[in-house]
Amino acid sequence: MALSSLKKLVTESMAIDLGTANTLIAVKGRDVVLDEPSLVAINELTDEVVAYGTEAADMQGREGRDIVVKAPLTGGVVADFERTKEMLTHFVKKSKTGGSQVSRQAVLSMLSDVTHVEQRALLNAAEEAHIGKVYMMEEGLAAAFGAGVQPGDKRASAIVDIGAGTTNVAVITKGSISHSRAERIGSNDINEALITHLRRHRGLQIGAETAESIKWKYMSATAPEDPEFEIQARGRDVQTGSPHAVALTLGEIYPIVEGIVSRIAQVVQDTLTELRPEVAADIYDRGILLTGGGALLEGIDQYLRNFINLSVIIPEEPNYATVRGLVKMFDEPELLERVSRNELSILQNAEVPFEA
Ligand SMILES: Nc1ncnc2c1ncn2[C@@H]1O[C@H](COP(=O)(O)OP(=O)(O)OP(=O)(O)O)[C@@H](O)[C@H]1O
Ligand SMILES: [Mg+2]
Repeated sequence: MALSSLKKLVTESMAIDLGTANTLIAVKGRDVVLDEPSLVAINELTDEVVAYGTEAADMQGREGRDIVVKAPLTGGVVADFERTKEMLTHFVKKSKTGGSQVSRQAVLSMLSDVTHVEQRALLNAAEEAHIGKVYMMEEGLAAAFGAGVQPGDKRASAIVDIGAGTTNVAVITKGSISHSRAERIGSNDINEALITHLRRHRGLQIGAETAESIKWKYMSATAPEDPEFEIQARGRDVQTGSPHAVALTLGEIYPIVEGIVSRIAQVVQDTLTELRPEVAADIYDRGILLTGGGALLEGIDQYLRNFINLSVIIPEEPNYATVRGLVKMFDEPELLERVSRNELSILQNAEVPFEA
């Protein structure tokens, strides 16, 4: 067998969506193989990472004395290069199928408006994770393909990805982004607003896990049918420091969600007013596709529909749209070459042998 065909056999193609809250990895032919929080637990005495992903998340808020749990990415970009690199290396290793991979290739998503410095950091992290050939693609485009937009479609589609730290609006025509906008506001801002509200108005300090669970279970983008319905939030009394609980009504928490969701909706509306008439006409007919974990907030589609007066469609598993769009690229190598946005073409051609 010729070396080149042998190489093809052992090359693993990975799609990586390195998000503020979650890292998702899909492998060609095997769909999503990794879905873990983008977190690391660090021993502060030794400065070493002691746990990654789900394991680190389980420690969050209940860390031992010398352990601290950190998110190496903020607002969709690398904030801590070393930790991002270590985390990525760990996740890539964990996702490999086994056997000897001579080389790999990966496609990573990135925000449309990343600076060169931010893109460089992401590329370097990927390079040092021994991935091999690295392609980068704009998140909006990947999310669109993952949500079912056809690369050859002449008519425009609009996609809104609401992540943890970012909201990305992109308009796609014929497999390219014709218009896009990314803002540093996302679903985690709801958690932050809830935590702040409880601390300032109710004297209760709650942890990240509690805030997240209240959001998933009780928060909705539409006004509650029973505003008097009571839930309990548990944490630490701000004054005394002792364990404490307060009763909250859905009527009290609704304005917190609405405050954030309305800002997200405004970003979407503002972006849609910047379109050319023909593109606007397509979007008028088709409405928008909503992806990202933020699309899982109850009632968000209805809220947006009322706000922008267009139909809003959420595909199945909207939080996987980006990574599924990325992995599809391996079936269309020409498209991948065309859409990948690597200023560093040297990297693309430099195949790094995989080091186990
Ligand atoms: N069932 C749910 N109900 C409400 N919110 C949810 C649900 N599931 C996930 N989320 C929220 O979705 C967000 C994570 O979405 P996603 O995984 O798309 O973000 P990310 O890609 O890591 O972030 P970014 O794209 O901003 O870098 C979190 O804020 C999380 O709280
Ligand atoms: Mg994302």
